[in-house]
Amino acid sequence: MNTSIETQLIDGKAFAEKMTKEVAAQVAELQQTTGVTPGLAVILVGNDPASEVYVRNKTKQTHKVGMRSFMHLLPETTTQQELLTLIQRLNNDPDIHGILVQLPLPKHLDSDPIIQAILPEKDVDGLTAYNAGKLTLGHTDGFIPCTPLGCLLLLQQELSNLRGLNALVIGASNLMGKPMAQLLLNQGCTVTIAHIDTRNTEELARQADILIVATGCKELVKGSWVKKGAVIIDVGINRITTEENKVKLVGDVAFHETLGIASKITPVPGGVGPVTISCLLYNALSAAKKKK
Ligand code: GUN
Repeated sequence: MNTSIETQLIDGKAFAEKMTKEVAAQVAELQQTTGVTPGLAVILVGNDPASEVYVRNKTKQTHKVGMRSFMHLLPETTTQQELLTLIQRLNNDPDIHGILVQLPLPKHLDSDPIIQAILPEKDVDGLTAYNAGKLTLGHTDGFIPCTPLGCLLLLQQELSNLRGLNALVIGASNLMGKPMAQLLLNQGCTVTIAHIDTRNTEELARQADILIVATGCKELVKGSWVKKGAVIIDVGINRITTEENKVKLVGDVAFHETLGIASKITPVPGGVGPVTISCLLYNALSAAKKKK
């Protein structure tokens, strides 16, 4: 029988508000006990409109929790050497506890050496080889990339135990898919990663108890791909223009098609996005605590 179930929305906004309040309380306590105010440096090169929005949000939230924010808005023409020199300066600055280089960088820049130039103890994005290695080895004292960490926290809130569940991560980036898979593996999930060259993503999706989608392809995952009762975390944020000529954000999952099939799903907007920023603030706080 093809009965439909009630799909619950996972409220990322409420989760993020709670987490941000907790970080703000800990920032205040750190200041009182040690005199240290966490400082986060954010570097944005060029004027990609989506990145500008993300960086503005990060700055606003950083101030909201009582941290210091150091914004570096650099022109599109910035050279590799100029960027490396700035990172060296921030590495040596005792007021800066965390450094984030907003990705993607303009095409003429080689992002990997730039990311690897960040001191691991200031790498609040968890993208250096040191922190990625820590995650791979299951060490819990490194920095975990903010978006996958946010996805994991949401899953842990929604599911009492992840052990033994089949998880499919669609998208294999260093920023999201790879660390996500590693985190789920560390939690005891049976993890599959699908990517642009995967031939049977749809078939793999139908076996997944947990489906995490981060591809940048709007509404790639259809309702017919979803296993009944699956939990879906949609990381995509895609801008579309509706028939009424309005700009709207949609995810990488055809949200409406999954209603009645998935047990839980994150909406876009209001799902993973706000939690990512709370995780960045949490990582910046941890960086400052380690330095005190
Ligand atoms: N671009 C999109 N998401 C992120 C992120 O989490 N960190 C960085 N550095 N760049 C991004």
